[in-house]
Amino acid sequence: MFSLAYYPAVPVLPTPAAPPRPDPETLAVSAQLRALIDAEITTAGGWIGFDRYMHLALYEPGLGYYSAGSRKIGGGGDFVTAPELSPLFGRTLARQVADLIREDVTDIVELGAGRGTLAATLLTDLETLGRLPVRYRILEVSADLRQRQQQLILERAPQLAARVEWLDELPASFSAVVIGNEVLDAMPVHRLRRADGRWLELGVTLSDGQLAWATRPATAALTAAMPADLPDDYETELNLAAPALLGELGRRLIRGAALFFDYGFPAHEYFHPQRDRGTLMCHYRHTAHGDPFLWPGLQDITAHVDFSALAATSHGLDLLGYANQAQFLINCGITDLLSEVPAADAARYAPLASAVQKLLSPAEMGELFKVIAFGRGIASPLRGFIRGDKSHSL
Ligand SMILES: C[S@@+](CC[C@H](N)C(=O)[O-])C[C@H]1O[C@@H](n2cnc3c(N)ncnc32)[C@H](O)[C@@H]1O
Repeated sequence: MFSLAYYPAVPVLPTPAAPPRPDPETLAVSAQLRALIDAEITTAGGWIGFDRYMHLALYEPGLGYYSAGSRKIGGGGDFVTAPELSPLFGRTLARQVADLIREDVTDIVELGAGRGTLAATLLTDLETLGRLPVRYRILEVSADLRQRQQQLILERAPQLAARVEWLDELPASFSAVVIGNEVLDAMPVHRLRRADGRWLELGVTLSDGQLAWATRPATAALTAAMPADLPDDYETELNLAAPALLGELGRRLIRGAALFFDYGFPAHEYFHPQRDRGTLMCHYRHTAHGDPFLWPGLQDITAHVDFSALAATSHGLDLLGYANQAQFLINCGITDLLSEVPAADAARYAPLASAVQKLLSPAEMGELFKVIAFGRGIASPLRGFIRGDKSHSL
């Protein structure tokens, strides 16, 4: 996810900026979702966990951020992702995916496909490479985004649309190349605070009619998942949904690989003593800020990924590699693809070069964004991790 926000190497949230105010019609949709959230808080006795709030704010059918009809991703939306920034991201990834497609791994499964841009790019490029998957299967929780994906694939790759199908859940057992770009950061997280040597769970309550934070002692299960050596007043997030998804993959994947792209860190950086306000971040119209209670349903809410937690719960899958995005894309040949366009052709070259700079620069997406891959039955090293594999750091 890329916006005017910057991503500091150690702390915290970007300086809060005032996001532009939505129009009254849009605010009315948010008010409907607020009424539903308020009712749930009241029914629950005055408090819900932040994970539940985030789930409602992002995924409540028809009203949540990803489920309602507004444009979210891309120039006219709230943030830009790597596949939206440039087709070179998907075309570079296609080289890695082409290596992994073989006789007994013929499908791709994409998790959380957003507008469908990566699917369209991968399909068209894999066709050019002569490595088309038999099926391109998309697991998408948002009905609205499913529709947008269908439309975009029909526009950009009509000859391949028949290969694309949508899943309601992961198949019980399957072989595939699984891809997820910025899916894990969009999963609901618990929020915790350390106080008097114990973990408290930060949840959501109503105070004078407004949404507000309130704490409860963390359950034994949450406490067990947290580091014990952090100082009082430390606040952070815990994503249990991402390792659970990986666990499901571990149980169901017969053969193949799963590649996840996202922003985040290994545990020792994620729980860095200086990162004491966590990584929760909200995006509205390319403005990043730290207030998840602002206009529920209208803004994105996200937290960085703890990649060590993923590696620790891979349920029998092999860890195939872990690298920063720049290293992965360079290993897969992004600069070769860029050099296919003559620099003298400024109209074509300049936007591609500028996007590559954003994807690779350590000050932009190159260092904060990581790629982690798991697999089963994959004997050869992945080209994306040939140099700069940092699996040892997890
Ligand atoms: C930040 S967007 C990224 C979209 C797209 N991959 C891209 O890079 O532009 C997160 C996507 O994940 C989807 N999503 C969130 N949780 C999911 C889950 N458990 N299973 C499948 N999709 C999910 C959202 O609906 C949305 O499409």
